[in-house]
Amino acid sequence: MSRSEQTGPTPDAEAPAAFDFSALRRFPDVEADNLFAWDPTDELILDSTAARLADPAAWPIAVVGDRYGALALATAARYGRNAGELRVHQDVRSGELALAANAEALGLAGSYTSMPLDAALFEGVRTVLWQLPRNLEELAEVADLIARYAHEDVRLVAGGRVKHMTAAQNTVLAESFGTVQASLAAKKSRLLTASGPLRPSEPSRFPAREFNDELGLWLCAHGATFAGTKLDIGTRFLLTFVEKMKPGAATAIDLGCGSGVIAAYVAANRPELTVVATDQSAAAVASAAATAAANGLAEQMTAVQDDALAGFAPGSAELVVLNPPFHVGGAVHAGAALKLFDAAARVLKPGGELWTVYNHHLDYRAQLERRIGPTWIQGKNPKFTVALSVRSA
Ligand SMILES: C[S@@+](CC[C@H](N)C(=O)[O-])C[C@H]1O[C@@H](n2cnc3c(N)ncnc32)[C@H](O)[C@@H]1O
Repeated sequence: MSRSEQTGPTPDAEAPAAFDFSALRRFPDVEADNLFAWDPTDELILDSTAARLADPAAWPIAVVGDRYGALALATAARYGRNAGELRVHQDVRSGELALAANAEALGLAGSYTSMPLDAALFEGVRTVLWQLPRNLEELAEVADLIARYAHEDVRLVAGGRVKHMTAAQNTVLAESFGTVQASLAAKKSRLLTASGPLRPSEPSRFPAREFNDELGLWLCAHGATFAGTKLDIGTRFLLTFVEKMKPGAATAIDLGCGSGVIAAYVAANRPELTVVATDQSAAAVASAAATAAANGLAEQMTAVQDDALAGFAPGSAELVVLNPPFHVGGAVHAGAALKLFDAAARVLKPGGELWTVYNHHLDYRAQLERRIGPTWIQGKNPKFTVALSVRSA
């Protein structure tokens, strides 16, 4: 039986050793005065689990959703045992890089193990510390994996900002755990704790898969993927321009690929092009690979995890297609899109094309002109603008 209760915050008795959260940086993620490398939820999760983490019987520990290393590095600094017993999964590549850089700077390199989201991450784990995702599909996929593979005594301590939390999160957790408890709010954050994993008998439903009649394509998505198996309405408009994109090109990049919907549509409708789908999110890249396979496009379309094309050679690309992000972590921030415009500018050949879609009010044209080169508006519908920018020599 699932049970959902509400209790007061239950900080453990022992005061944790000091850890200087302000020493953490977000780099290589976007840095700005109003963007931070840790938040009060990290402190609440750590304060509430202090006595537990000090007890060797509560290890191994898995840390999920750690933005820039606050949870993992404070745990390593205060209670560190060995790297194999402190397993960390971050979906986003820039988060992994920031964690590694912060670990190095704090003398904690080698204190944890970064792992993909799979059975090995949770096998035998007795404590999970988790910055809750807002996306319920991501919550469901991770909760299901924990319930399948963690130790039967596992305790899950998940936290989020109150303004981002909903009762639906308790409901989703209760599908995977016998007991789910919500704390009262503290520091504008709240904890959900769960125990009693309900070992599922059915295989995981991820990656989810749905046929899109409009595109004539299967779309596949792991939980953390933007828009899941649905077609974003900005993307829908951008895809109406595929035939006009860089005639004569042999290669294309789907930058920020999500489910791989753009790459798959380009590959299916421009058979002369080979397409690389790339995203900073591991879930997105796995989804794009699944989308390629589901549509028989794996020969023509590959998927690569990377932060803003960092591993792509300068001046190498003929065509980049982009529906840019408008969030940096939880915050709406133009920096995420501008970072990808700069990435395209670096990777495009002179004469190479960037095709972008954006909400009218964002008015990125001047930014595109400045960062890429001459930019022409190719179309507008009631909500979106599609722009073509050509890389200057
Ligand atoms: C608006 S979504 C578009 C997803 C997909 N192309 C679509 O049309 O449905 C933007 C995508 O950019 C990705 N992204 C954000 N910042 C990135 C970065 N620095 N490097 C690579 N991808 C990034 C996000 O993970 C997200 O999947």
